[in-house]
Amino acid sequence: MGKDVIIACDFPDGERTLGFLDRFTERKPFVKIGMELFYAEGPDIVRKIKARGHRIFLDLKLHDIPNTVKRVLSGLDVDMCNLHAAGTKAMMEAALEGLTREDGTRPLLIAVTQLTSTSEERMRDELLISAPLEEVVAKYALNARDAGLDGVVCSPLEAEKVHSVCGSGFLTVTPGVRFADGAVQDQVRVTTPEREKALGSDYIVVGRPITASPDPVSAYEICRDRFIG
Ligand code: C5P
Repeated sequence: MGKDVIIACDFPDGERTLGFLDRFTERKPFVKIGMELFYAEGPDIVRKIKARGHRIFLDLKLHDIPNTVKRVLSGLDVDMCNLHAAGTKAMMEAALEGLTREDGTRPLLIAVTQLTSTSEERMRDELLISAPLEEVVAKYALNARDAGLDGVVCSPLEAEKVHSVCGSGFLTVTPGVRFADGAVQDQVRVTTPEREKALGSDYIVVGRPITASPDPVSAYEICRDRFIG
């Protein structure tokens, strides 16, 4: 399981997504399909991108009763998908069952611990979770590991802590990457691909620094070189 750069394909429709991916004629990047594109185009867009030889992280952040999550995930032909650890271990275990194919293989399954948009104050005042945010993230990551999941989505600044609590083989998938000389857009806490490498992240999720670049293929290759090379 090697380190890789995942491109967040946050486009509003399939046409723009496929047009963007057409540019990658040599190396076929690992791509993330999020709710925006999936709800607009349905499962067909997953099949189309898969047929072009890309690996896919389907970022649907599921959170429902175990039986529903298990059924939604059954027979899904992607390489990575995710759910909320807040759905509890029973839901995560059911998800793994649903994902496992007849031959025993399955996509990687990773958990969202706390969204980075949730502050410690809101967690305490609205969700009545009084433990410090870092402790909550570590506990949810441990629950995910105990349920048999492969890793978590987290802030790059949490990757070290997650590895120290859950072991170095437990994957950290981290967004918030910017080139040192690039605009940060709406991200608040950002790191560079080089820093992500040093922090021990396993997969970095990079959107606009690649998708909004005038030369996305070069931006992707530079990002790869700095993170993996
Ligand atoms: O364009 P940008 O590089 O900011 O895209 C980052 C991607 O990672 C987006 O798809 C965003 O939704 C996702 N993400 C994030 N922060 C999180 C979780 C997911 O930026 N905490």
